[in-house]
Amino acid sequence: PLGPAKDTRGRPLHDLRISVTDRCNFRCTYCMPREVFDANYSFMPHSALLSFEEITRVAGVAAQLGVRKLRLTGGEPLLRKNIETLIAMLAQLRTPDGMPLDITLTTNGTLLAKKARVLKEAGLSRVTVSLDSLDDALFARMSDSQVSPATVLHGIEAAAEAGLAPVKVNMVVRKGLNDQQIIPMARRFRHSGHVLRFIEFMDVGSTNGWNMDEVITGAEILQRIHAEFPVVSLQADYRGEVAARWRYEDGGGEVGVITSVSQPFCGDCTRARLSPEGRLFLCLFATQGHDLRGLIRSGASDQDIAARMAGIWSVRDDNYSEIRGRATVARKKIEMSYIGG
Ligand code: GTP
Ligand code: 5AD
Ligand code: SF4
Ligand code: SF4
Repeated sequence: PLGPAKDTRGRPLHDLRISVTDRCNFRCTYCMPREVFDANYSFMPHSALLSFEEITRVAGVAAQLGVRKLRLTGGEPLLRKNIETLIAMLAQLRTPDGMPLDITLTTNGTLLAKKARVLKEAGLSRVTVSLDSLDDALFARMSDSQVSPATVLHGIEAAAEAGLAPVKVNMVVRKGLNDQQIIPMARRFRHSGHVLRFIEFMDVGSTNGWNMDEVITGAEILQRIHAEFPVVSLQADYRGEVAARWRYEDGGGEVGVITSVSQPFCGDCTRARLSPEGRLFLCLFATQGHDLRGLIRSGASDQDIAARMAGIWSVRDDNYSEIRGRATVARKKIEMSYIGG
């Protein structure tokens, strides 16, 4: 059998992020701008998607290669029908030393109040919920939807009550758009038991018109918070954690910043991404993936799939965020809505 996989920079394969659909009920301007993702946009047909059996098979092989954590993403993963059935199947998987995998999910929260309980019962351990604003009008503008932030907040509470905790809340900060929400968001989630994380606006995909002028760095975000609610730095929870962690001095809990632009964390990047139709991507900013679906549907054995995945990982050298510049920003990259962050 194959042992743990390492890439050319010595990074182990530790996390598999699985995108289960390219659809979403939001049209966040930085992710799925409506001009591009309109009524004429062709999303993937159901037959192109990996089935739950196929996803579980890839995840099981990945566990043999060292994967310990699975994250379901999208698009919006809760739009995939019977997602709880997939979670229950993934919860049966074991590492070579007999441990279950950590199964998490990133969602926009709209369907969470309805689904939190069944997700937990199926074996999900935690959720991360995206929320960029508490202000109704701004939220509507950023998500280009009719949904109110109150719906997302309900979803967050329902998830915590169902035991999908601690809930992490992700806020993408875009200068001049929602940076005035940094302090209100911090205030709202202090003492809540949930962990708010601020994400620097990134140049993912080719449709969001990214510009460095719209980035507020993690350091600046922390300065603003510190001025209002003093914080002290915390150690990382685990090697390769993307968020730098801080805690409020008054015991208000924890906040984080994800500084992919100002302080890249490629050196410890242990993540691979599986697209809805079974392509393996080795970087969030990749221009191309590696087709696994063809291999699976041609009758390959688990051994064949493991050898292919190990081979792909072993030649990986990605470090996009460390070499970001004008030339890289202009590349034709995969979309966030396709690969799920
Ligand atoms: P947990 O610590 O288990 O909650 O996992 P996580 O921190 O990876 O959570 P999450 O998936 O919510 O990641 C937070 C955000 O960080 C993502 O949505 C992305 O915006 C960003 N991110 C995650 N992984 C990467 C990565 O490999 N590269 C870059 N550039 N950004 C990433
Ligand atoms: N920059 C930073 N974060 C982004 N996300 C989506 N697009 C971007 C971007 N361009 C976030 C979502 C969600 C997570 C999956 O990634 O808001 O929290
Ligand atoms: Fe949907 Fe998330 Fe993209 Fe917004 S950021 S459009 S919620 S996938
Ligand atoms: Fe990993 Fe690519 Fe993100 Fe760097 S830019 S941390 S290599 S996914």
